[in-house]
Amino acid sequence: MQTQKLEYTQEVAESTASIYQKLSRQYKESHWKTLAPYIHEINRLKKEKNAVILAHNYMTPDIFYGVGDIVGDSLKLAQEAAKSDADIIVQCGVHFMAETSKILCPEKKILLPDLKAGCSLAESITAEDIRRLKKEHPGVPVVTYVNTSADVKAESDVCCTSSNALKIVEALGKEGHDTVIMTPDKFLAQNVAAQLKEKGSDINVLFWEGTCVVHERFTAKDVTGIRAANENVVVLAHPECPPEVIAESDFSGSTAQMDDYIKENQPHKAVLMTECSMSDNVAAANPDVEMIGTCQLCPFMKMISLPKILKTIQSEEPEIHVDPEISKRARKAVDRMLELS
Ligand code: 13P
Ligand code: SF4
Repeated sequence: MQTQKLEYTQEVAESTASIYQKLSRQYKESHWKTLAPYIHEINRLKKEKNAVILAHNYMTPDIFYGVGDIVGDSLKLAQEAAKSDADIIVQCGVHFMAETSKILCPEKKILLPDLKAGCSLAESITAEDIRRLKKEHPGVPVVTYVNTSADVKAESDVCCTSSNALKIVEALGKEGHDTVIMTPDKFLAQNVAAQLKEKGSDINVLFWEGTCVVHERFTAKDVTGIRAANENVVVLAHPECPPEVIAESDFSGSTAQMDDYIKENQPHKAVLMTECSMSDNVAAANPDVEMIGTCQLCPFMKMISLPKILKTIQSEEPEIHVDPEISKRARKAVDRMLELS
C-alpha cells in the first residue's frame, strides 16, 4: 500500500478546529498539529467506507473525541454495535470488545487496530475452566463478565458488564437461584456480593480468581491519601477495584456510570480510581471539575493509536473472526444479558 504524507493543511485545521477547542488543555498546539492530519484522514475514510468507530472510555482523547462515533462503556458499545448499519466497525478498545461486536454483528467486518490489545481478565479463564466449574456446581448459573473470549462466553449462561452485574445476579435470584458463579473477576464478584448483602439478599456468589491488572493496583490507602491531600474530593471507583477501595469511595460504577455521575453532580474536585485516559476524557467534557490525577494505565488499551487506526481503516485489516458455532452459543449469553438488563 502507498503511504501518503499527512500534513497539517488549512483544510485539516478547519475540519478539526472544534475538536481542538475541547482538547486544548490536553494537547499543546505543536502536538495537536501532528495528530490532526490523522483525525482528518480517518474521518474522511470512515465516510468513504461506511465505517463507524466504537471508542471505549479508556481511549486517549485524540481518539475518543477526534474519531470516535460511538463512545462509552462495554455495555453501550455492545448495544450500539448491534444497532449499527455500518459495513465496517473499527473497535477502538480491546480484543474481547471486538469479538463481542462480531458476535452481535456476524455480517459486518469488525476491525481491531492491534490484535495484541488483550485483557488480563480475558486471559485468566478458558472455556475448559467454565466446563469444569459447571461440572463441580451442577445447576448453578455461570455469569461471565464480557471481558472474556467468545469461547468462554459460549460456555456461560449469561454475560454481564460492570454496569449491569448486580441486576443480572438479582434477576437470577428472582428465577429461584440461591447461588451463582461469577467469572472471571474476583473483585467484581466480591463487590456484587457486598451490594447484595447490603440489600438484604442472601444469594451466594462464588467467584473465579481473575483480576484486572489496572484496577487491582489501587488500595484503600491511596483513597485515604487522596482525601488527606484534597479537601472535599469526590472519589469514584470502578467495580474491578478491590472491595477495600470501593468501601472507601463515594461512588462505584462502570466507566459510563462514573462519567454520568460527574456530568450530573459537577463536583468541585473528583478522582477516578480507574484508567488514566478516562480522567482526561471526563476533564475535557467538564471544565469546571478539577480532576485529580491518580490513575493507572491499561497497557492493552494504550496499544490503540491514531496511526494504527488509520492503517487499519485503509487496509481493512486486522479483521476479527469468530467461529460461527461458538458465536451462536456466545450470542445466547450476550442476548440473555441484554434481555435481563
Ligand atoms: P466498563 O464496562 O466499565 O467500560 O469497563 C470495561 C473495562 O475493561 C474496565 O476495565
Ligand atoms: Fe482488561 Fe483491566 Fe485493561 Fe479493562 S483495564 S481492558 S479489565 S486489563
